[in-house]
Amino acid sequence: MVTTGKPVALVTGGASGIGLACARHLARRGWTVVVADLDRGAVDATAAQLGDGHLGLEVDVTDGSQVDHLVAGVVDRFGRIDGAVNSAGVLGARLALAETPVDEWRRVMAVNADGVFLSLRAEINAMRAAGIRGAIVNVASIMGVVGSPLAAAYVASKHAVVGMTKAAAWEYAGDGIRINAVGPGYTDTPLLAHPMAERSAELAARHAFNRVAEPEEIASAIWFLLSEEARFITGAFLPVDGGFTAR
Ligand SMILES: NC(=O)c1ccc[n+]([C@@H]2O[C@H](COP(=O)([O-])OP(=O)(O)OC[C@H]3O[C@@H](n4cnc5c(N)ncnc54)[C@H](O)[C@@H]3O)[C@@H](O)[C@H]2O)c1
Repeated sequence: MVTTGKPVALVTGGASGIGLACARHLARRGWTVVVADLDRGAVDATAAQLGDGHLGLEVDVTDGSQVDHLVAGVVDRFGRIDGAVNSAGVLGARLALAETPVDEWRRVMAVNADGVFLSLRAEINAMRAAGIRGAIVNVASIMGVVGSPLAAAYVASKHAVVGMTKAAAWEYAGDGIRINAVGPGYTDTPLLAHPMAERSAELAARHAFNRVAEPEEIASAIWFLLSEEARFITGAFLPVDGGFTAR
């Protein structure tokens, strides 16, 4: 076991976009970061970019045994998890609800809803077992509190994330574990690469700032929620959306 004396964070979906921005932000702020993502090469490359002492681990968050194994791996290596960011997610096909094949519905729910549930469960169990008064941030979306056409599975999965965040916050407040969610507006990441290219002006106009977010702008809000500065905040849904949901 390596004892770094620094707080340890696990970031799922940490090899790209918002998760990657979080991993960089936390590493800059003195955390030891474990990035977890689907692809071995990508997690190794990300951990190497972060510098010495950080770690990359492969995981498919839809598989509970892989998620449990991931969290056990972090605890074996560092002895603790102080913070977690559950950012792994997929967008899903642009289809009306009545046109959505069951397989597509299940694929989106498996990553975005089951994946956050399985990650949250393992992270909470690890924190409780070690007596850590940790903090967890789930990356929901503006679509966790509003609807949008052609995205029923995505919208449902993100509402599920907001709901499980609130339920878990109540259940584990007594252990000193804070659990919150952020709701990014449209953010310039690979997730949106195609839709953005075709509809960038239209998407920008849905935000009061008339632009989409940079992943770093989401990461700094997540970092705040993980930090002691947010010690009285739990069960919150924090929109980081340039005014999108204020309209
Ligand atoms: N980009 C946006 O506009 C936006 C807006 C609101 C919310 N979000 C949410 O932010 C989170 C991160 O999205 P992003 O924009 O950074 O996208 P991204 O595609 O850049 O990153 C998502 C990461 O999740 C990983 N991932 C996907 N399925 C996985 C699985 N089964 N197991 C492990 N890892 C998996 C991908 O490999 C990828 O590295 C998602 O939950 C997304 O829904 C994004």
